Amino acid sequence: VKVLVLNGPNLGRLGRRQPEIYGHTTHAELAHQCVAWGRDLGLDVEVRQTNHEGEMLDWLNGAADDGTPVALNAAAWTHYSYAIFDACAQLTAPLVEVHISDPHQRPEEFRHFSVVTPYAVEVVAGHGIDGYRMALEILART
Ligand code: DQA
Repeated sequence: VKVLVLNGPNLGRLGRRQPEIYGHTTHAELAHQCVAWGRDLGLDVEVRQTNHEGEMLDWLNGAADDGTPVALNAAAWTHYSYAIFDACAQLTAPLVEVHISDPHQRPEEFRHFSVVTPYAVEVVAGHGIDGYRMALEILART
């Protein structure tokens, strides 16, 4: 089964970006891990990251067309993008929302709202990079 792991803005700098919040694993290492975890679960995982909202929308629209399950870390878009909200609404296969940190536990008010949650079968947050493994497990059994 093909599964997409889609990562939004600033996640390309994982490992260097606020490591006290997001840890020391780079995006390349995360991608490698996701493929390996997927293989163990019988999933064919493809990991993508973009800083461009339109590109993310194209990927989500493609997943809607193909009926591909998605693990989505929309990063900051999570909190304000109605275009991401509308794109998630069109997905037909299961969607799992992933965050490395737990936005609800963070001090900024704006992180406490998510446009993705209404369309997610589950939200995995605050488990660091391991959250992606948990998301893939959820997709493997849904
Ligand atoms: C994030 C949490 C968001 O609030 C933030 O804007 C991110 C990363 C996370 O994975 O913890 O960029 O989605």
